[in-house]
Amino acid sequence: MTLQIRSIEEYHAAYQRAVDHPEEFWAEQAETFQWRKPWSKVLDWNFEGPDINWFVGGKLNITENCLDRHLATRGDQVAILWEANDPEAPNRSFTYRQLHAEVCKAANALKANGIQKGDRVCFYMPMVPELAIGILASARIGAIHSVVFAGFSAHSLSDRIKDSECKMVITSDFNSRGAKYIPVKKVVDEALNMGCDSVKTVLVYQCANEMIPMQSGRDKWWHDEVNPQSAECPATEMDSEDMLFILYTSGSTGKPKGVVHTCGGYMVYTCYSFRNVFQIQDGDMYWCTADIGWITGHSYIVYGPLLAGATSIMFEGVPTYPNAGRFWEICDKHQVTHFYTAPTAIRALQAQGDSWVEKHSLSSIKVLGSVGEPINEEAWRWYHEKIGHSKAPIVDTWWQTETGGILISPLAGITPLKPCYATLPLPGVQPCLTTSEGKEIEGNNVEGLLCMKFPWPSILRTTYGDHERCRQTYFSPIKGMYFTGDGARRDKDGYYRIIGRVDDVINVSGHRLGTAEVENAINQHPGVVESAVVGYPHDIKGQGIYAYVITTDPVSDEDKFRKEVMDVVSKEIGPIAKPDKIQIVSGLPKTRSGKIMRRILRKVAEGDVSNLGDVSTLLNPEVVEEIKTGAA
Ligand code: WTA
Repeated sequence: MTLQIRSIEEYHAAYQRAVDHPEEFWAEQAETFQWRKPWSKVLDWNFEGPDINWFVGGKLNITENCLDRHLATRGDQVAILWEANDPEAPNRSFTYRQLHAEVCKAANALKANGIQKGDRVCFYMPMVPELAIGILASARIGAIHSVVFAGFSAHSLSDRIKDSECKMVITSDFNSRGAKYIPVKKVVDEALNMGCDSVKTVLVYQCANEMIPMQSGRDKWWHDEVNPQSAECPATEMDSEDMLFILYTSGSTGKPKGVVHTCGGYMVYTCYSFRNVFQIQDGDMYWCTADIGWITGHSYIVYGPLLAGATSIMFEGVPTYPNAGRFWEICDKHQVTHFYTAPTAIRALQAQGDSWVEKHSLSSIKVLGSVGEPINEEAWRWYHEKIGHSKAPIVDTWWQTETGGILISPLAGITPLKPCYATLPLPGVQPCLTTSEGKEIEGNNVEGLLCMKFPWPSILRTTYGDHERCRQTYFSPIKGMYFTGDGARRDKDGYYRIIGRVDDVINVSGHRLGTAEVENAINQHPGVVESAVVGYPHDIKGQGIYAYVITTDPVSDEDKFRKEVMDVVSKEIGPIAKPDKIQIVSGLPKTRSGKIMRRILRKVAEGDVSNLGDVSTLLNPEVVEEIKTGAA
């Protein structure tokens, strides 16, 4: 089993050791896994390429480590416990032995449908166990999974399928989410009609009892393909640096990029970080409320917990259905010990009043986690007092799709906490703060751009099909370092507090969106000439989306126009990207070189118009007054 740190003294010692002897440190972690062939060198890297290789020459299959390895010792322990959207519906649970069998059957079905090592398989699915089973099946035979969050539009799905030329799409007929009933397969059909020639097969998992159109030759039912298969499927031997998955995420340019993670390093780091941050013990019930469509679900619903031999709860629904007590009801029902969620959910539930919490005992809770965005102090305190009964530590875990796993976080019950601080880096992680010119800022009580000086095993290796973009985005802004895109503060004790993105990425309810991506979508409306999007503080979502829009003609019915713009954005990206506020303007403040002055737009969106700074050098200073008075 991966080594687990037990005290703050052990933490400091491990930290120092990982700095002084990184290869030794990581070899010791990696040795706790099952390798088909050992590595010849622990690490071979440079950040200029970037060219990063962990456990060089090592051969393995991650699913042997998630499943087969546990059969002798925990075959009858529950691996995944699934709670349906409908509180009356029965749970489904899979022991490690059952999960192993299901994954093998699905893997055989993928093979029978022509999927081979290296092929890309796209998942567009609700939170049902078959999503976890499917991605593990893909990993078992060496295929590369690309999960697309099922809230994305047909257009977004189609872009992602095309970018990585997926051979198969795995989906479901419908999705029950809260009171909504969503036709999922219909979105896949629309996406495939936008020219996804690479897709040969669509596998459809049946959630409902309704007829849906199935295209003969292409569309097949999951149960027809998977159920008859053998429950044995030898795992394909993978190189440590073979791709495990692609996950698309937004950046500051318009097009989402496919972040690539590889087998060996991702395996070692997700298990290591999971065990150390959450301090999991046998018998614990761990629940991460994320969706597997995001990195949190990949690393901390599926891979991390299974690699560590834990029991992972998977929830199909939403926090407020059928009422705002659902999360707490589930915690009591399954005696949850570890609860990991996003600040946006905490704030939304806090706003519903304490009575929803007080109906439930929550006495099983030992550790609370937060992820995805900065947690504000009010939410932190409420979470700590009401959900953690002022006892359970909160691990505020900072990380990114690109980092694969948690990099900065308290270790539960070990690191002394400070509200709203992600606190200290995990051993093996070497953060630093720099100026925008790339100069390292030493000492404490300082603020700067958050970078990493040294690779950790689950750092991204490339962006799919475009290595140069990976280099430019992450490795060239600050020379010799990995640039996170976040700003951070290091306090007098050396604790890190994440301030937020310093690039054109906004974080809406913990979901990353590029402003350029939203602008491109808005500009698809025929009545729009140009738009500019900024984030502004939002009580529940963390950040809301504020859009400034120039129209071709004067708009007579503004409400109707706003609704049309929202519909366009929903259609282009998905409902998560709908602007919260839309202001129609006659122009955007621009510099003489034609660059939009976003600083001014952000200030107005924040409602702070008192100090806009010097606007006299703008090409069109007169629009500033108009924008100020017309603020939405
Ligand atoms: C933000 C989610 C503050 C940050 C795992 C980062 C956080 C982006 C935290 C990555 C946290 C994530 N405190 N900010 N604990 N965790 N972020 O790729 O801005 O969806 O760069 O990964 O979320 O979002 P992503």
